[in-house]
Amino acid sequence: MSKLLALPALLPLLLLLLLASTAVDARVIKRMQPRRALLDVAAACKTTSYPLLCQSLAVPANSASLQDLTGTVVSAAVDKAKEAQAEVAKLMAAPGTPKTVSESLSVCRANFESAVDSLRGAGKNLKGAASHADLMNNLSAASAFVETCSDAFDERGLKSPVAKTAEQLGMLVSNSLDLGSALK
Ligand SMILES: *[C@@H]1O[C@H](CO)[C@@H](O)[C@H](O)[C@H]1NC(C)=O
Repeated sequence: MSKLLALPALLPLLLLLLLASTAVDARVIKRMQPRRALLDVAAACKTTSYPLLCQSLAVPANSASLQDLTGTVVSAAVDKAKEAQAEVAKLMAAPGTPKTVSESLSVCRANFESAVDSLRGAGKNLKGAASHADLMNNLSAASAFVETCSDAFDERGLKSPVAKTAEQLGMLVSNSLDLGSALK
């Protein structure tokens, strides 16, 4: 009985708490509004060869500017190139790999390593004072390294066991080039 009586007495307090929390929410939301307009990610990604892939990587925290978005895609490419390297290493270590496949995998190993270097260089160029031409050179080089791995299998009429990863990497590098060229 006493609990029921206390409830109406508590109502004003509850109402006050509710109002106070709404006021705080409004302030927090206001503070979270960016000072400058965010990049139109959809529009920026539309200029790339693989818009959906581009958009899937973009979250507000890494897409405040075209430079940010480019950096995000380049980082994803670095990760994918490292994944490709690991895949090649695993395949090379596997017993029973035919010699021709091993030889092509060696080509891939060297080229994925170079791709990682070039992409890391591109990432640094984005932040530093390097010229736009350097950035584009590093990205073009990465693209060529990835292509060389695929060629090593094509030339021998072999099916690349790293085709899928190499293709995904190629798409990320391609998008990096598209975004990078829009930076100028
Ligand atoms: C990036 O490109 C510049 C200019 O072509 C070159 O000097 C530099 O070695 C490259 N860096 C990497 C890591 O590939």
